[in-house]
Parts: sequence; C-alpha cells; structure tokens
Amino acid sequence: MDGNAIAILGGTGDQGLGLALRFTRAGRPVVIGSRKLERAEEAARKVRQAVPEAEVEGLANEQAATRASTVFLSVPFEHFAATLKSIREKLVAGQVVVSMGVPLATAVGDAAVRTVGIWQGSCAELVAALVPPGVEVVSAFQNVSAHRLQDLAGEVECDVVVSGAKPARRRVMQLCDLVPGLRGIDGGPLANARIVEQMTALLIGLNARYGVPEGLGIRFTGLPPS
Ligand SMILES: NC(=O)c1ccc[n+]([C@@H]2O[C@H](COP(=O)([O-])OP(=O)(O)OC[C@H]3O[C@@H](n4cnc5c(N)ncnc54)[C@H](OP(=O)(O)O)[C@@H]3O)[C@@H](O)[C@H]2O)c1
Repeated sequence: MDGNAIAILGGTGDQGLGLALRFTRAGRPVVIGSRKLERAEEAARKVRQAVPEAEVEGLANEQAATRASTVFLSVPFEHFAATLKSIREKLVAGQVVVSMGVPLATAVGDAAVRTVGIWQGSCAELVAALVPPGVEVVSAFQNVSAHRLQDLAGEVECDVVVSGAKPARRRVMQLCDLVPGLRGIDGGPLANARIVEQMTALLIGLNARYGVPEGLGIRFTGLPPS
C-alpha cells in the first residue's frame, strides 16, 4: 500500500474523475476504481490524456481499495452500502475512507434540492457504521462542483469543510490544499457532516435560481490565516 496514493472508488463518475485530474496534476499517484475493470482503465486513460505526467491506474474497486491509505467513496449515497460491502474485507486499520455523499432525494425519485433522512444521521456516519474497526471515516468535498474540478484551466473557488477524527481529517485537509482555489476548513467531529451534506441541496437550488450550471462554491470569511 502506497501512503502517498489516493484511491477513488467510482472514479469513473463526474466527481471522482474531477478529483483524479486534480490530484494527479498535483503529483499524487491515483488509483481509479470501478465495478468494471474496463471502465476504470478507460477513466485512467482520460486522466492521462488531460494530465500527461499523471501517475494513474484503473482497477476494480476491490483491488483499488488495497492500494492507497486514503480511499474516496465516489458513488451516489444510495450505493454506499453495496460498494462498502464489496470492499469491506479489503480495508485495514489505519486507512482513511472519505465520504462525499449527499442524501439527495433523487434517490427516492424526488428533487435534488431536497434530502432524505438517514438513520445514522448523515452519509458519512452511515459509512462509519459499515467500515471495519480501525478504519477512519472523514467527511469532505460535498460542496465542491465536479464541473469545476474537471476544468483544469480554472481554480476551484470553494472552501471544503472536513470532519472526522483529528489526524484523519488533517490528512484530508492537506489533500484540499493540493487543488488550486480549494481550502480545507477544520470541520470538527464527523457528526458535523449532517450540516455540510444538507448544504449541497441548497447549493443545487442556488445553481438553478442563479443560472450557474458550473456550480457555485462556498467561502467562510474572517478565518485567521493558517
Ligand atoms: N457531481 C457533483 O458535482 C458532486 C458534488 C459534490 C459531491 N458529490 C458526491 O460525489 C459522489 C459521486 O458523485 P458523482 O456525481 O460522480 O456520481 P455518478 O457520476 O452518478 O456515479 C459515480 C460512480 O458510481 C458508480 N455507480 C453507479 N451506480 C452504481 C451502483 N448501482 N452501485 C455501485 N456503484 C455505482 C459508477 O461507477 P462504476 O460503474 O464505474 O462502478 C459511477 O461512475 C456522490 O456521493 C456525490 O454525492 C458529487
């Protein structure tokens, strides 16, 4: 396992691909995971096309999860449980799983500007209930637009609230700082994901009302310089 590497399960989708582009561009090795090996390989090819110096590989989710100390879960939240069950036995203590999930009501056929309740409190806490002991879960990147991540010519003007146990959330805050324009914000304990996840539904509504298909970002003001 490479401590520097980042695995992105479902990295074939919009958000995961955007992160793969940004992290490889910053010089970090990335492993893209998919349920289908060919899709993962195709996504890795796309990354290499856009970032010729990229150190990137496409693997099935089960293999991808064993390659990196930080594993992004980049599938819609309604597929979290199935995805985690497929890789659970591969995860080992010390790994960090990043939840970007948002409980959008689209999962039950309703609109993306509303959310549904999750028994555990948030998508991130659902993940925490499903990973093996010793694996840390961090909540982050829910408010960052995939479109902005994929547009390598632009900066991603957004703050990222990062929540979870302290050492793990520090690790993920450092990943935010690899992307020009992103800023990791210390979001405290994992339960604060309940607030952050809901904000995405608000942002989706704002995108529609203000006509910004590329996606708005959020900024906190008044923070002391880090
Ligand atoms: N899109 C955004 O702007 C955005 C912004 C903030 C946060 N997020 C979060 O980022 C995560 C990924 O979002 P996304 O927009 O990239 O999602 P997406 O493109 O709809 O899907 C991502 C990947 O999920 C996998 N997937 C699809 N159906 C599945 C199923 N039935 N079971 C297991 N895996 C399945 C697919 O990978 P394979 O078919 O290759 O396995 C797919 O490429 C979500 O949790 C979302 O809340 C997204």
